[in-house]
Amino acid sequence: MTLRALHDAARKTLDPVHYDYVAGGADEERVLSANESAFDRYLLLPRILCGSETRDTTVRLPGARRAAPVFVAPTAFHRLMHPDGERATARAAAAEGAVLVTGTAATTAVDAVVAAAREAAPDPAVWFQLYLHPRREVTEALVRRAEQAGCTALVVTVDSAVFGRHTRDLRNGFTDLPPGHAAENMRDLPGAPPGTLTDIPMSAAPTWRDFAELARMTALPVLVKGILHPADARLALGHGASGVIVSNHGGRQCDAVPAALDCLPAVVDAVAGRTPVLMDGGVRRGSDIAVALALGATAVGVGRPVMWGLAAEGEAGVRAVLATLRDEYDHTLALCGGRRNADLTKDMVVRRGETR
Ligand code: FNR
Repeated sequence: MTLRALHDAARKTLDPVHYDYVAGGADEERVLSANESAFDRYLLLPRILCGSETRDTTVRLPGARRAAPVFVAPTAFHRLMHPDGERATARAAAAEGAVLVTGTAATTAVDAVVAAAREAAPDPAVWFQLYLHPRREVTEALVRRAEQAGCTALVVTVDSAVFGRHTRDLRNGFTDLPPGHAAENMRDLPGAPPGTLTDIPMSAAPTWRDFAELARMTALPVLVKGILHPADARLALGHGASGVIVSNHGGRQCDAVPAALDCLPAVVDAVAGRTPVLMDGGVRRGSDIAVALALGATAVGVGRPVMWGLAAEGEAGVRAVLATLRDEYDHTLALCGGRRNADLTKDMVVRRGETR
């Protein structure tokens, strides 16, 4: 099934309120659509007579030595999509050799997510996403949970000082999880108020000092997610980050920022090869991956497509999404005369209407 067919199948299966929760963005959803349409503005200029019958598309990432160039971006509440929830996503990602970023807002606890990944592959890479909490002991409790579960890296999301205004959720009155579902990583945190488990802890005024403190708390590599400004990429490196993720949260936070892809080149220049630069937002086909890698990304994340695969067909649907993207990317690499990801270079990307 194509990604589009899986999306259509998910739309038919899901409660429309839950469909809107995933599909929607902030405010007028300008950034949501810009993320996808940015890829239409870039075209590939292939090289010829330099290809290879076999290609190596694996990438080296913090806590993942040989991973697919596509990773599963952290998205909340997978059990709203399918009863198997995050366990299905974890098995699928591990089987396809893709890094899974599981989040604080998962409806399955991180140790169960890692255990499910291990059912599908001996050495899976699961990263844990968290926000900075105003109280150090809460952040630390989450870090220890991720370490004990066997996560191989942490991802700190820094674009969420306040929660985005999700227009569709406000219209639909979607404010809480249905009975029987909870953000399981939130159970029994120090000083957590009893009652709702859906209030994901995050600081309203996180600082680089808080980030550096978190990075010192753990021996795991820590990536920063939500970088758009190149100066922040430099600051991230100066405060102990092992990687940066260029992301605007899939258009769910500030609705006046550029498409994630358009922010990538300046961040790549600022980082200058010192750590991997990842990106997410709007990746829907293999050629999108090729464009992002040619512009300097080490790997790209997918959020919504994984949710649609999960809703449509559970574990098999997520596998189909990841396998399709990987195969399409491999095909594009072949057509561009590449045998390795590094063969895709900046000079092979042109803007629509321009040639060299
Ligand atoms: C997200 N995203 C997200 N990011 C994060 O750091 N923590 C989170 O809890 C969530 N939750 C979440 C829920 C849903 C339903 C969506 C769609 C997205 C953002 C996510 O990691 C990623 O940045 C975007 O989804 C990437 O854009 P695409 O691939 O969905 O276009």
